[in-house]
Amino acid sequence: MRSIPTRGRFITLEGVDGAGKSTHIGRIRQVLEARGLEVRLTREPGGTELGERLRDLLLHRQMALSTETLLIFAARAEHIEQVIRPALRAGTWVLCDRFTDSTYAYQGNARGLGMAAVATLEQWVQGDLQPDLTLLFDLPVEVSLARRKQASLELDRFEQEDHDFFQRVREGYRARALADPERMRVIDAALTPEEVGKAVEKIIESI
Ligand SMILES: Nc1ncnc2c1ncn2[C@@H]1O[C@H](COP(=O)(O)OP(=O)(O)OP(=O)(O)O)[C@@H](O)[C@H]1O
Ligand SMILES: [Mg+2]
Repeated sequence: MRSIPTRGRFITLEGVDGAGKSTHIGRIRQVLEARGLEVRLTREPGGTELGERLRDLLLHRQMALSTETLLIFAARAEHIEQVIRPALRAGTWVLCDRFTDSTYAYQGNARGLGMAAVATLEQWVQGDLQPDLTLLFDLPVEVSLARRKQASLELDRFEQEDHDFFQRVREGYRARALADPERMRVIDAALTPEEVGKAVEKIIESI
């Protein structure tokens, strides 16, 4: 008789642009793989062929806030059905660069859609699926802006927003972490990459 694999864990990384999500996701994978775990790296919006096409629209086309939010959840629905649930069922750990906490912080709080609308879509699209662990890379807006300036990449539609917008994103994230401290761990992302890496590893080791 074949044994049923234990379900993989679902870990998400959150934080404003420049907070260090991409910098640390690869290291988390290494730590988990060193324990013999199967790991799948993915991102939102995106993670599937259709999702990446929606991402491209989301980052570069003007649209109504409701359209933006619905497209994000459309990409998420596809991602969950095609990638996340099958991987978790097979025992693979899923590391996802941004997930629904981003939608609460950006669309719900910073853009002013409100939390209730996001919660309704979350319930519809995710059902009982929630991250087992979320790492919030928390960073003062000034530091985020300085890092992005230094990297001097072309700015997408979200990155062009002003200081107050990112302040609201940060506050939206922190409110989520306060409401759910078990799941969502706050990391001081203003520290050096080495220090942030140590903090991340400590949390990963603890689970
Ligand atoms: N702790 C740190 N101290 C200084 N610079 C950092 C630190 N972490 C990351 N950086 C630099 O900041 C920039 C952005 O980092 P990174 O791409 O990891 O952020 P991100 O959270 O993935 O952002 P985005 O949401 O835009 O993808 C990179 O140039 C990276 O080298
Ligand atoms: Mg990134």
